[in-house]
Amino acid sequence: MARILITSALPYINGIKHLGNLVGSQLPADLYARYMRARGHEVMFICATDEHGTPAELAAAKTGEPVDVYCARMHEVQADLARGFRLSFDHYGRSSSPRNHRLTQHFAGRLAENGFIEEVTEQQVYSVADGRFLPDRYIEGTCPNCGYDRARGDQCENCTKQLDPTDLINPRSAISGSTDLEVRETKHLYLKQRALKDEIDAWIDRQTDWPVLTTSIAKKWLHDGDGLQDRGITRDLHWGVPVKKGDQDWPGMEGKVFYVWFDAPIEYIAATAEWADANGKTDADWERWWRTDKGAADVRYVQFMGKDNVPFHTLSFPATIMGSREPWKLVDYIKSFNYLNYDGGQFSTSQGRGVFMDMALSILPPDYWRWWLLSHAPESSDSEFTWENFQASVNKDLADVLGNFVSRITKFCRSKFGETVPAGGSPGAREAALVAELAGRIRAYDGFMQAMEVRKAANELRAIWVIGNEYLQEAAPWTTFKTDPDAAAAQVRTGLAMIRLFAILSRPFIPDAAAEMMRAMHSDDWSWPEDVQGCLNALQPGQPFEVPDNLFRKIADEEREDWQKRFSGIRA
Ligand code: MF3
Ligand code: ZN
Repeated sequence: MARILITSALPYINGIKHLGNLVGSQLPADLYARYMRARGHEVMFICATDEHGTPAELAAAKTGEPVDVYCARMHEVQADLARGFRLSFDHYGRSSSPRNHRLTQHFAGRLAENGFIEEVTEQQVYSVADGRFLPDRYIEGTCPNCGYDRARGDQCENCTKQLDPTDLINPRSAISGSTDLEVRETKHLYLKQRALKDEIDAWIDRQTDWPVLTTSIAKKWLHDGDGLQDRGITRDLHWGVPVKKGDQDWPGMEGKVFYVWFDAPIEYIAATAEWADANGKTDADWERWWRTDKGAADVRYVQFMGKDNVPFHTLSFPATIMGSREPWKLVDYIKSFNYLNYDGGQFSTSQGRGVFMDMALSILPPDYWRWWLLSHAPESSDSEFTWENFQASVNKDLADVLGNFVSRITKFCRSKFGETVPAGGSPGAREAALVAELAGRIRAYDGFMQAMEVRKAANELRAIWVIGNEYLQEAAPWTTFKTDPDAAAAQVRTGLAMIRLFAILSRPFIPDAAAEMMRAMHSDDWSWPEDVQGCLNALQPGQPFEVPDNLFRKIADEEREDWQKRFSGIRA
């Protein structure tokens, strides 16, 4: 039995996430966590809302709420949706928690003591009307290159020229529109990543089993151009973790907070401490997951994220950990994802384009989405959600293959033998071949699940469901019954036993349907089918069962067309 720490990239607090966000981190992380638990491993699965930064402040300003109130409310909204999708976090924390404040300040203090922090004085644009410094992208004006009048201070969207805010003609605050802007002096802390470059580089080189998508991004940032750069880790904002050196004030840094990307990954650790606090555990209980001097040396730590998050997790966060010179657990494996596109374009949060988590659950139960998303996970390349494809997969895989199998065998048994597992007959050559075929497929499924090959695992699972249907088709107990009811009883037993087997195997993908299948078989034994024959024998003659209600319904063309219209444009 192994101990596995699993984290999903932390969703930003500012608004409900779309299905592209979900499939890029939280959902595959959940799949892996569920599978590893099912295999008997000790799992700690952590996620949290990422609550700091300008986007959170602006989102709160839009609703008129104080930012802390906004974050508390949105955290509940997101936690509720996570439950709706059956994401099985051991803890869903908040990066604004006191634990994260303390831990972030602790790391900054250690980094400073070890000489990895530099104080830099800079010129920055200050908006008098907004009472704040403006990040480059919150300054707008006319592009000196092409004349576009809504160019941002970091780049002109129209001609793509990289800009400095001072290049803009008629600059104004993107927050208030005010033109009362001044350049003021301000001091910031930089994390000296360059000083840790060789250490990080050597560490990445040791990760020979990482996906190419992950290592290539890390290597690019390490070596392209001028290579790894030092990184500003503080901001002139009100909302965030106040800059401190451990629990000491940091002279000259009053009123400043840490940059959101500095404190967010530290929340992986802090959220585990929050888990301990919420469950009446001690510090030792969470430290055994994170401190290699306190039991975490034999933990395997796996992170899930979209590709845009890879630089922060392969470079900046490891730099924070290494630079602390304390024995914190570094990640062992990073599973990264490409993007999911929506119906010929991109999902867009700002335009409300695509399917968002709340809307998805308002039209269909979570298993439908989980199955489609995971079986189309954007692993080797970007992938695309289309309503046609969604409808086809649901109708075929879930309704025609799995749902139909369950309903056919249970209904046939009820009509001929009643609602108990029938006695009589014994398995023969066909059943032996079935067991061998299932065993081979399950071995492949296990291999892909362990390797986090999500699509390939889904393909194996689908193939396993198909085997069930093929068995029924070939054994044809309805025909056998006419001449040899005992032989038919043995076939029916095999079919019913497969429902339980499929429930166990399918649970990481479609937990609700799996629970329904298990319940219908009046069982609660989820032990993994190491021995397929034994698993099929586990269903005893005379044991009652039920015919479950339709496990999955089909999506009609009219519904699909209606949804297609509703989700194509501006979100209400
Ligand atoms: N909130 C970020 C995003 O959505 C991810 C943060 S991951 C963390 O892209 F590690 F920094 F927390
Ligand atoms: Zn331009």
